[in-house]
Amino acid sequence: MLEEKFVSSIEVGVRGVRVVELPRIEDPRGNLSVMEFEKDLPFVPARCFWIYNVPGHHVRGEHSHRRLEQFLVCVKGACVITVDDGRNRADVALDRPNRGLYLPPLIWDMMHQFSHDAVLMVLASERYDPAEYIRNYDEFLQLINQYESTFP
Ligand code: TYD
Repeated sequence: MLEEKFVSSIEVGVRGVRVVELPRIEDPRGNLSVMEFEKDLPFVPARCFWIYNVPGHHVRGEHSHRRLEQFLVCVKGACVITVDDGRNRADVALDRPNRGLYLPPLIWDMMHQFSHDAVLMVLASERYDPAEYIRNYDEFLQLINQYESTFP
């Protein structure tokens, strides 16, 4: 079960999305946060990318994924992630390097309000595949409706 994977996580009211508090090991030499893939994440990452130098008013994301699971950490600065399951929507502030956000498949996400110094790191469960993206919100809603009628 996903909930059992994360030591400390909370739901945000959007299907399967969880905010995860990662350890923060304080040290006069500098702080350290850590996660161990098979132990602390519900998937083993196949890919990591990071988003940075985003002009403040720009929005990234605005898409969903058919199969991909993602784990987001704003390792520097801050940004806001809007998550939407086709029924419910929530805004999550990623504003500290020991806070992660888990996104299961079929969540529409928008990444915005980037601080000038923000570096948003994304761990992904699969290699890059543009065919796996859903870039149209109406198509996303249709898939959600199909999914809910198959798995009521
Ligand atoms: P894209 O996914 O469209 O960014 P956004 O999250 O803002 O929608 O990706 C932007 C560009 O980067 C696009 O040309 C594809 C490329 N890209 C890769 O080559 N590999 C990756 O893992 C990702 C995420 C993007």
